[in-house]
Amino acid sequence: MAVTRKKLIEVALPLDAINAASRREKSIRHGHPSTLHLWWARRPLAAARAVIFAQMVDDPSSDPGRFPTKEAQERERERLFGILEELVKWENTSKRSVLEPARLEIQRSWERMCADNVDHPHAQELFRCDRLPAFHDPFAGGGALPLEAQRLGLEAHASDLNPVAVLINKAMIEIPPKFTGNPPCNPESRSATELVEREWGGAQGLAEDVRYYGKWMRDEARRRIGHLYPKIKVTPEMVRERPDLSSYEGRELTVIAWLWARTVRSPNPAFADVDVPLVSTWMLSTKKGKEAYVEPVIEGDSYRFGIRVGPPSDPTTVRRGTKSGGSHSPFVCLISGSPMPFEYVRTEARAGRMSSRLMAVVAQGDQARVYLPPTEREAALACTEAPWQPELQIAHWPGRTNVVEYGLTTFGDLFTPRQLVALTTLSDLLGEATNRIRRDAAAAGLPDDDRPLRDGGTGARAYAEAVAVYLGLSVSKLSDAQSTLCRWKSTMNQSIGTFGRQALPMVWDYSEANVFGGMAGDPMTSLNNMMRVVDRLPSGNSGRVRQSSAQDEIWCEAPVVSTDPPYYDNVGYADLSDYFYVWLRRSLRPVFPDLFATLAVPKAEELVATPYRHGTKDAAEEFFLDGMTKAFRRLSDQTHPTFPITIYYAFKQSERKGTAGIASTGWETFLEAVIGSGFSVTGTWPIRTELANRMISRGTNALASSIVLVCRRRRADAPLATRREFLTALRSELPQALHLLQSGNIAPVDLAQAAIGPGMAIYTRY
Ligand SMILES: C[S@@+](CC[C@H](N)C(=O)[O-])C[C@H]1O[C@@H](n2cnc3c(N)ncnc32)[C@H](O)[C@@H]1O
Repeated sequence: MAVTRKKLIEVALPLDAINAASRREKSIRHGHPSTLHLWWARRPLAAARAVIFAQMVDDPSSDPGRFPTKEAQERERERLFGILEELVKWENTSKRSVLEPARLEIQRSWERMCADNVDHPHAQELFRCDRLPAFHDPFAGGGALPLEAQRLGLEAHASDLNPVAVLINKAMIEIPPKFTGNPPCNPESRSATELVEREWGGAQGLAEDVRYYGKWMRDEARRRIGHLYPKIKVTPEMVRERPDLSSYEGRELTVIAWLWARTVRSPNPAFADVDVPLVSTWMLSTKKGKEAYVEPVIEGDSYRFGIRVGPPSDPTTVRRGTKSGGSHSPFVCLISGSPMPFEYVRTEARAGRMSSRLMAVVAQGDQARVYLPPTEREAALACTEAPWQPELQIAHWPGRTNVVEYGLTTFGDLFTPRQLVALTTLSDLLGEATNRIRRDAAAAGLPDDDRPLRDGGTGARAYAEAVAVYLGLSVSKLSDAQSTLCRWKSTMNQSIGTFGRQALPMVWDYSEANVFGGMAGDPMTSLNNMMRVVDRLPSGNSGRVRQSSAQDEIWCEAPVVSTDPPYYDNVGYADLSDYFYVWLRRSLRPVFPDLFATLAVPKAEELVATPYRHGTKDAAEEFFLDGMTKAFRRLSDQTHPTFPITIYYAFKQSERKGTAGIASTGWETFLEAVIGSGFSVTGTWPIRTELANRMISRGTNALASSIVLVCRRRRADAPLATRREFLTALRSELPQALHLLQSGNIAPVDLAQAAIGPGMAIYTRY
């Protein structure tokens, strides 16, 4: 048996510092990996980094030779905490001076472990002090954990069942290190002296090429379809109705977005052939001093939309649009006032009688948004013909994909024809861009071999495919900002993306952003943000990423594992990610034919307790428990014998209200799987991305957003204990464990969740 040492994470952590950094990260956009592509339920990088570090570094109590007294151990722990507290800060993410000491600590602990195990029968494979064990996350998702392992100097392996997640991980840890230090190959960078002489650290050269060819794609798309996105002219008629527009008269303004209202036939027989609007609010801008709203003008059995500026005289009525009351209430007919219950709207929509009508145009004025009334020309422009649309059916998960109930049953139904034209044009251009990049890369001196990226190539073909991956991700990401589920946010005066939450809910009045407007919804806007991420990625060993189910074999030899599996039924990853998959498959199938072989994201093995997929709630729970137990058993059998593994569990918002969270079905099933698979729990750490006192003041209790479980394989000769013996052990061991927890600066509010760890440690020992 291998000799093990207690790791820092099994004793104490500077939890306040980790939680503060995790919280701060939520407000960081520029350069944060989450801006590379959307993924749901991402873990904070700060927590991921801290957890991996503390799971690899020895706790001083494991070295009584060097730290013989409690005081000496506390002092050493304080020193390690100091390293951790710097390590978790966002501004230190790529600082060598902070990362190096952390890597050194990991290496030192590893050397001690190797020395302890020189006589181990598999010492040659398991304990080579010149080779740190690899890291593996089998539920990698958006890739926070493998990325942080790579940053800490480990060889990072990531896998996920979902091809979209696999691609995101490839873009973060596998592709950039292959081209570390390469200068860009585009003709512009190669001819500009200052760029030729510049040093290209990490994947900055790659990022520069993505920007260049992304711009080429966008310019080319504009040449082909720019006529669908013309500027809007402020006419004398508009000014007559709206004197505030006088300074714009005769000028042509860039459109930022077209705002549409869905419509259904009036339920009132007298107006049965009139399409009446479903508007959740007439307000366009609620910013103080910049208020604007739509004013419907009814003329007999028809209506038109005018625009008013300034605060409305009857704000309640204006705010509720054509709703009968609050935001969840049903609509009324604009013309007759007849009620339109949701069931009526659903029936109309399913019968194909739901349509849309242009309500307003938002244009860019002189450092201000200008709201203009719709014109026939503007409305007609959107009614173009789409050359292609994704036919894939949207799975119906009640409460999560409600669009289906309104007749929007395929992913293609979620886009306007103009949006489909834009997305397919960009997706088609990707092939042309890849050929160009390959030519330019060969001209720049990369070997023009034919070895593809998927087979480990690094020549001109592979490089072109690498750039194409980011361009493909940008088209997929654009689909988030370009659908009929995007809203106009009146408090911010901007269009917001499809996935405000982990669902596809119905949106009644939607915003169609200008693809060439230079703002949200323009591919260059998101591409520039995405490349800020690639510019900062760690340039270490190349990671390895594969598509596989966590229930199948772990494909990397004796790794250290930190992982974040799905939380019961919290997020329907596979169902939601089909939204992106259809675009990624169209764009990148030539690069990764196996990854995109299936028509849709694989679902059967997805470890989510989805009642609609499994028939009943009980069947879903059983599937989840069996699958998770199997996956954890693989981990307990195949991971490195001397490191604990860490597993995250995130609570649902609803679970965190009241005290239900500690005893919810999801949490209990999860713990059952952990224990049933042969693990014993040696620690629990609450990770908090909200301020505890803010939650308390809002009247919710203060459960942390997620909890990290530290687990070790339970000994085969684990003893039996009676209830009495168990309670005696609890009484004698818990006080010391709690004392250690408190020494790690744990907020009193977190103590209850953190104390589950030492308690579970005693329980699962038997
Ligand atoms: C909570 S997410 C991981 C999030 C990730 N840690 C991050 O920070 O972005 C859980 C992941 O498990 C994946 N998953 C679900 N069932 C799986 C299975 N059977 N095998 C592997 N991955 C699976 C989902 O696709 C999802 O990406």
